[in-house]
Amino acid sequence: MSLVKFIEFPALGDSRGSLVVIEGNETVSFDIKRVYYIYGTHAGVSRGFHAHKELKQVAVCIAGKCNMLLDNGAEKSKVLLDSPTKGVLIDDMIWHEMHDFSDDCVLLVLASEHYDESDYIREYDQFREAVKL
Ligand code: TYD
Repeated sequence: MSLVKFIEFPALGDSRGSLVVIEGNETVSFDIKRVYYIYGTHAGVSRGFHAHKELKQVAVCIAGKCNMLLDNGAEKSKVLLDSPTKGVLIDDMIWHEMHDFSDDCVLLVLASEHYDESDYIREYDQFREAVKL
Protein backbone atom coordinates (compact mmCIF):
# COMPACT_ATOMS: atom_id res chain seq x y z
CA MET A 1 0.00 0.00 0.00
CA SER A 2 1.24 3.49 -0.72
CA LEU A 3 2.70 5.42 2.20
CA VAL A 4 0.33 8.40 1.84
CA LYS A 5 -3.39 7.83 1.71
CA PHE A 6 -5.49 10.98 1.76
CA ILE A 7 -9.18 10.76 2.53
CA GLU A 8 -11.39 13.48 1.09
CA PHE A 9 -14.41 14.28 3.28
CA PRO A 10 -17.27 15.78 1.29
CA ALA A 11 -18.47 19.09 2.72
CA LEU A 12 -22.23 19.33 2.87
CA GLY A 13 -22.42 23.02 2.15
CA ASP A 14 -25.50 25.13 1.91
CA SER A 15 -26.28 28.83 2.30
CA ARG A 16 -25.48 28.60 6.02
CA GLY A 17 -21.94 27.25 5.59
CA SER A 18 -20.32 23.81 5.65
CA LEU A 19 -20.74 20.56 7.54
CA VAL A 20 -18.48 17.52 7.35
CA VAL A 21 -19.54 14.05 8.52
CA ILE A 22 -17.01 11.33 9.37
CA GLU A 23 -18.42 7.88 10.10
CA GLY A 24 -16.54 4.82 11.33
CA ASN A 25 -16.41 1.93 8.86
CA GLU A 26 -17.75 4.31 6.22
CA THR A 27 -15.74 7.47 5.68
CA VAL A 28 -12.77 5.90 7.45
CA SER A 29 -11.95 2.21 7.09
CA PHE A 30 -12.12 1.35 10.79
CA ASP A 31 -14.46 1.57 13.73
CA ILE A 32 -13.69 4.82 15.59
CA LYS A 33 -13.12 4.08 19.29
CA ARG A 34 -11.37 7.29 20.32
CA VAL A 35 -11.20 10.90 19.24
CA TYR A 36 -8.65 13.45 20.39
CA TYR A 37 -7.50 16.82 19.19
CA ILE A 38 -4.38 18.91 19.51
CA TYR A 39 -4.64 22.69 19.65
CA GLY A 40 -2.87 25.70 21.12
CA THR A 41 0.46 24.21 20.08
CA HIS A 42 3.21 26.65 20.96
CA ALA A 43 5.41 28.17 18.27
CA GLY A 44 8.26 25.94 17.17
CA VAL A 45 6.87 22.85 18.88
CA SER A 46 6.76 19.52 17.02
CA ARG A 47 4.80 16.49 18.25
CA GLY A 48 4.34 12.81 17.55
CA PHE A 49 7.70 11.06 17.05
CA HIS A 50 6.30 7.59 17.45
CA ALA A 51 4.67 4.68 15.63
CA HIS A 52 1.91 2.34 16.76
CA LYS A 53 2.06 -1.44 16.61
CA GLU A 54 -1.67 -1.92 15.94
CA LEU A 55 -3.45 1.42 16.06
CA LYS A 56 -4.78 3.03 12.89
CA GLN A 57 -5.60 6.74 12.87
CA VAL A 58 -6.91 9.41 10.55
CA ALA A 59 -5.78 12.99 11.13
CA VAL A 60 -7.41 16.14 9.78
CA CYS A 61 -6.72 19.81 10.50
CA ILE A 62 -10.22 21.10 11.10
CA ALA A 63 -8.73 24.58 11.51
CA GLY A 64 -5.36 25.98 10.50
CA LYS A 65 -2.59 23.76 9.19
CA CYS A 66 0.42 21.63 10.02
CA ASN A 67 2.88 19.39 8.25
CA MET A 68 3.01 15.68 8.94
CA LEU A 69 5.97 13.45 8.22
CA LEU A 70 5.07 9.82 7.50
CA ASP A 71 7.80 7.19 7.46
CA ASN A 72 7.41 3.44 6.85
CA GLY A 73 11.08 2.72 7.47
CA ALA A 74 11.89 2.56 3.76
CA GLU A 75 10.29 5.77 2.53
CA LYS A 76 9.40 9.15 4.05
CA SER A 77 6.82 11.65 2.88
CA LYS A 78 5.85 15.09 4.16
CA VAL A 79 2.20 16.01 3.76
CA LEU A 80 0.49 19.33 4.39
CA LEU A 81 -2.79 19.14 6.27
CA ASP A 82 -4.50 22.43 5.54
CA SER A 83 -8.16 21.66 4.98
CA PRO A 84 -11.08 20.46 7.11
CA THR A 85 -12.03 18.20 4.20
CA LYS A 86 -8.63 16.48 3.85
CA GLY A 87 -7.67 13.64 6.16
CA VAL A 88 -4.60 11.42 6.06
CA LEU A 89 -4.39 7.82 7.20
CA ILE A 90 -1.70 7.05 9.79
CA ASP A 91 -1.55 3.30 9.43
CA ASP A 92 -0.06 0.94 11.99
CA MET A 93 3.75 0.86 12.00
CA ILE A 94 4.10 4.29 10.45
CA TRP A 95 6.49 6.65 12.23
CA HIS A 96 4.88 10.08 12.28
CA GLU A 97 5.85 13.57 13.31
CA MET A 98 3.82 16.76 13.23
CA HIS A 99 5.59 20.04 12.53
CA ASP A 100 4.90 23.69 11.70
CA PHE A 101 1.58 24.04 13.52
CA SER A 102 -0.16 27.30 12.70
CA ASP A 103 -1.34 29.27 15.75
CA ASP A 104 -4.95 28.44 14.94
CA CYS A 105 -4.35 24.74 14.19
CA VAL A 106 -6.82 22.22 15.58
CA LEU A 107 -5.64 18.75 14.59
CA LEU A 108 -8.42 16.20 15.01
CA VAL A 109 -7.40 12.54 15.24
CA LEU A 110 -9.75 9.57 14.92
CA ALA A 111 -8.34 6.37 16.35
CA SER A 112 -9.26 2.70 15.93
CA GLU A 113 -8.51 1.73 19.56
CA HIS A 114 -8.60 3.10 23.07
CA TYR A 115 -5.41 4.63 24.45
CA ASP A 116 -2.78 2.01 25.20
CA GLU A 117 0.76 3.11 26.00
CA SER A 118 2.07 -0.40 25.26
CA ASP A 119 1.05 0.04 21.60
CA TYR A 120 3.55 2.92 21.17
CA ILE A 121 7.04 2.65 19.73
CA ARG A 122 8.72 5.87 20.82
CA GLU A 123 12.34 5.08 19.88
CA TYR A 124 13.17 5.51 16.19
CA ASP A 125 15.87 2.82 16.26
CA GLN A 126 13.38 0.36 17.72
CA PHE A 127 10.89 1.27 14.98
CA ARG A 128 13.52 0.69 12.26
CA GLU A 129 14.35 -2.70 13.76
CA ALA A 130 10.67 -3.67 13.96
CA VAL A 131 9.88 -2.78 10.32
CA LYS A 132 12.97 -4.63 9.08
CA LEU A 133 11.59 -7.93 10.42
P1 TYD B 1 1.66 12.20 23.33
O1 TYD B 1 1.50 10.82 22.80
O2 TYD B 1 2.96 12.61 23.89
O3 TYD B 1 1.24 13.25 22.21
P2 TYD B 1 1.94 13.50 20.78
O4 TYD B 1 2.30 12.17 20.23
O5 TYD B 1 0.90 14.19 20.00
O6 TYD B 1 3.13 14.36 20.98
O7 TYD B 1 0.50 12.42 24.39
C1 TYD B 1 0.53 13.47 25.33
C2 TYD B 1 -0.01 12.97 26.66
O8 TYD B 1 -1.40 12.64 26.54
C3 TYD B 1 0.70 11.73 27.15
O9 TYD B 1 0.87 11.86 28.55
C4 TYD B 1 -0.27 10.60 26.87
C5 TYD B 1 -1.62 11.30 26.95
N1 TYD B 1 -2.65 10.71 26.09
C6 TYD B 1 -3.72 10.06 26.66
O10 TYD B 1 -3.84 9.92 27.90
N2 TYD B 1 -4.68 9.55 25.84
C7 TYD B 1 -4.62 9.67 24.50
O11 TYD B 1 -5.54 9.21 23.80
C8 TYD B 1 -3.50 10.36 23.92
C9 TYD B 1 -3.39 10.50 22.43
C10 TYD B 1 -2.54 10.86 24.75
